[in-house]
Amino acid sequence: MSSLSKQFYVTTPIYYVNAEPHIGHAYSTIVADVLNRFYVLLGSETFFLTGTDEHGDKIVTAAEKNGQTPKEYVDRISNLFRVLWPKLNITNNYFIRTTDENHKEAVRLILKKVKDNGDIYFSEYEGLYCFGCERFFTERELVDGKCPDHGTAPEIIKEANYFFKMSKYQGWLIDYIKENPDFIRPERYRNEVLSFLKEPLEDLCISRPKSRLKWGITLPFDENFVTYVWFDALINYVSGIEYPEGVQFKKFWPAAQHIIAKDILKPHGIYWPCMLKSAGIEPYQHLNVHGYWNVNEGKMSKSIGNVIRPLELVDIYGLDAFRYFLLRDMVFGLDSEFSEEALVVRINADLANDLGNLVSRSLTMVLKYYNGELPEPGPSNIEDNALKAGALELVDRYEGFMKELGFHKALMAVWEVIGKVNKYIDTMAPWVLAKSDKERLGTVIYHIAETLKIVSALVWPFMPESAEKIQDQLGLGKKGREFNLDDLRVWGKERPVRAMTKAPALFPRIETNKKKPPERKKEKKVSEKEPTVVSFEEFQKLDLRIGTVKTAEAISGSKKLIKLIVDIGEERTVVAGLVGHYDEQDLVGKQVVLVANLKPVKLMGVESHGMVLAAEDESGVHILMPDVVTMPGSKVR
Ligand code: MSP
Repeated sequence: MSSLSKQFYVTTPIYYVNAEPHIGHAYSTIVADVLNRFYVLLGSETFFLTGTDEHGDKIVTAAEKNGQTPKEYVDRISNLFRVLWPKLNITNNYFIRTTDENHKEAVRLILKKVKDNGDIYFSEYEGLYCFGCERFFTERELVDGKCPDHGTAPEIIKEANYFFKMSKYQGWLIDYIKENPDFIRPERYRNEVLSFLKEPLEDLCISRPKSRLKWGITLPFDENFVTYVWFDALINYVSGIEYPEGVQFKKFWPAAQHIIAKDILKPHGIYWPCMLKSAGIEPYQHLNVHGYWNVNEGKMSKSIGNVIRPLELVDIYGLDAFRYFLLRDMVFGLDSEFSEEALVVRINADLANDLGNLVSRSLTMVLKYYNGELPEPGPSNIEDNALKAGALELVDRYEGFMKELGFHKALMAVWEVIGKVNKYIDTMAPWVLAKSDKERLGTVIYHIAETLKIVSALVWPFMPESAEKIQDQLGLGKKGREFNLDDLRVWGKERPVRAMTKAPALFPRIETNKKKPPERKKEKKVSEKEPTVVSFEEFQKLDLRIGTVKTAEAISGSKKLIKLIVDIGEERTVVAGLVGHYDEQDLVGKQVVLVANLKPVKLMGVESHGMVLAAEDESGVHILMPDVVTMPGSKVR
């Protein structure tokens, strides 16, 4: 794989200023930041835009509630977002506000273009309007006559307004999405948009009379009206890079990758491409859609009082741990359940134990045996070569996963290598070599330090501060963004420029409040038959997911094994010992519980990426399955 040096432009939704920032906003923005930093490592020229969406009824109501004018109110809340991002180490290049003069100009210009193109008309409309969503609904979209997002009945509103002829672009959009399979990703959201588009597309109401709403951008062709929220908001993605004539626009459009959650799929997947087409602007490159963070199995909401505030967690657990957790625990595209317990488990297991320990024990050895200097390696043996091959291969695997938004997979791949180095240290036992074989010691330490350098560069997009601390301790001349993935592909290229040092633990263990009962003296020797006791933390390490079997075929030459392709939100090849218990065709369509984070193994030449859970009794083997059909990829706890 090669690292292309080209433009990369990433955006987050511009957040409404009627609520304070929470973990959902933080997730989208951190994802954008991680992706942006990854493209820096690829050597791309990058631009990262975020900001706030400040017009509309909801803002006016919120301002009134707070006894402020809309302007005072939006200034205050917008600032809460603006000052939050640097605290989360977000490296946006610009912060756009829809109340900025240059944004308003761009909106007016695009409205004019669309009108000149014959795509805006004036008409009387009566419809069901949800004030929460600030849009009209069709009967079909309602659930039990209520807005699916707000649970309130919409009101019937009749008024004359301007409409955008979106229906004119329906055929074009369907073709475009079909010809560009990764325009909207992951695939489930592409399918969702294509299924919306199976029904005739209605034209989009794009204005509000000023008699009803003043807090908006005046239409360039009728000063009695302001724009409708989406026509205003979506345009931020081009106004934020100085559409139409600015250098940034010319450089970065259409390389745009939008990050959003599934709640705003329709405006981004349908309205926005049609608006761009009508205005004569090329479509964006990718719409990247993620799922929702839920709390206690439900939505976060101010009224329930379960809103998770990012800074509170950062204060307790540290920024990098927070960033790591969000990206490691959510499969991009699927919903995730937030829990502080799971965060603590990740910190203690992955960060304190695996990575933190590795850094600490490695540097202790370099300092003890070599005074902080990197030793020269001697001839390498099979274990050294395996470690080196694994580390170099990691760079390619990581690049592939990151480009496909498989953040959790990229991190799992890095952690596989971290595990390998820890194991390598245990088996090579440098403390023994220090007494017996100085040449081997040098080779081993060299391989550890080299691998650690690669690990540090690859975790940088996720945990910039910690990665730079590791690089600093390794005495490297480059830091964070100065690395390039291609540097890492050349073993031994970036050598330390000064002596290595050791700093305090990167990720201190989090002590949980639960007091452990004092260890009792073992009275009898534990017999081998007694079940091994695992802690809750150990159990939590298992990633159990619901999957749907897509295909099943017996593996030729094997008496037991069946190869399954299982959908867990992504497709997994799994080998299961089910011959004689199930006919292959009976397995297709069945749901299973899959251990999704098992180390892959090759069985009869087929690489298996997981294990299907089953129970066994005298009558045979029985697959475990959920009692109702469950969304593939759902976590089993
Ligand atoms: N202003 C519009 C977006 C206009 S973009 C041209 C808007 N704002 S919002 O404040 O409601 O933000 C919605 C976005 O916030 C979601 O698409 C997602 O990026 C993020 N999230 C809000 N709640 C979330 C979760 N519970 N989980 C994950 N992300 C969520 O819609």
